[in-house]
Amino acid sequence: MQFVLLENISELEYAMKESLRALKTNIQFCGDDIQTILVTSTIPNEGKSTVTIDLARSLTESGKRVLLVDTDMRKSVLIGRLRAKNAAGGEIYGLSHFLSGQRKLDEVLYSTDIQKLSIIFAGPSVPNPTEILDKKYFRELIDFGKEHFDYVLLDCAPLGAAIDAAVAAKYCDGAIMVIAQGIASGRMISGAKKQLEASGVRILGAVLNKVKIKKSEYGHYYGSYYGSYYGSKERS
Ligand SMILES: Nc1ncnc2c1ncn2[C@@H]1O[C@H](COP(=O)(O)OP(=O)(O)OP(=O)(O)O)[C@@H](O)[C@H]1O
Ligand SMILES: [Mg+2]
Repeated sequence: MQFVLLENISELEYAMKESLRALKTNIQFCGDDIQTILVTSTIPNEGKSTVTIDLARSLTESGKRVLLVDTDMRKSVLIGRLRAKNAAGGEIYGLSHFLSGQRKLDEVLYSTDIQKLSIIFAGPSVPNPTEILDKKYFRELIDFGKEHFDYVLLDCAPLGAAIDAAVAAKYCDGAIMVIAQGIASGRMISGAKKQLEASGVRILGAVLNKVKIKKSEYGHYYGSYYGSYYGSKERS
């Protein structure tokens, strides 16, 4: 395994911290059978990557070993976002290299300067992400993650744009939907939720993000709330 330095892990605002804490607690109370969790949304830009990174970090602060996987091989931003640098110099390989058979798993797996956090970046965009997500290599990755980490968090593409997240969901124990306030319509959100349900994954809850909170004369700031809007119904 190689090592990357993450230069851009920012501090969270208070409101965000609180909701992350609630989300983390909920996940931990779901028990040992919820280990692989995907994060998706209805449309782009609702805050999936923000929530996934923050949740990952928050879980490591509780002593959990976390593998964060950027599965958005259409539009990967995580390397740039975190300003990741290969400590040994050179290229950083990613998920698309592994799923297409070009690299082995240990060549795309990076430990980080955040203790207990490892990352697999998305790699270069590929023409067939849905297809390669549904192959044996992805299963191998999930099995590896379950064996070596307490949690595997997958940052997925939005469901309104592609079915990648629904495909990845077949391999996951739970899913979280990020919903930015006032962006996607109720009908679109419910369509995305149905797509996830059809994969058979357990929907753990939703993060309502980018909530405008009135803060007297200091103006507005953004926050997020965690709630089990979809219930935590056991699958039968
Ligand atoms: N609670 C928040 N408060 C303030 N800004 C936020 C919040 N959540 C997300 N953002 C900002 O919104 C933008 C989109 O967030 P992010 O990249 O996490 O969304 P995404 O769902 O992963 O997008 P994409 O669909 O492109 O992958 C970013 O600039 C991020 O910093
Ligand atoms: Mg993202």
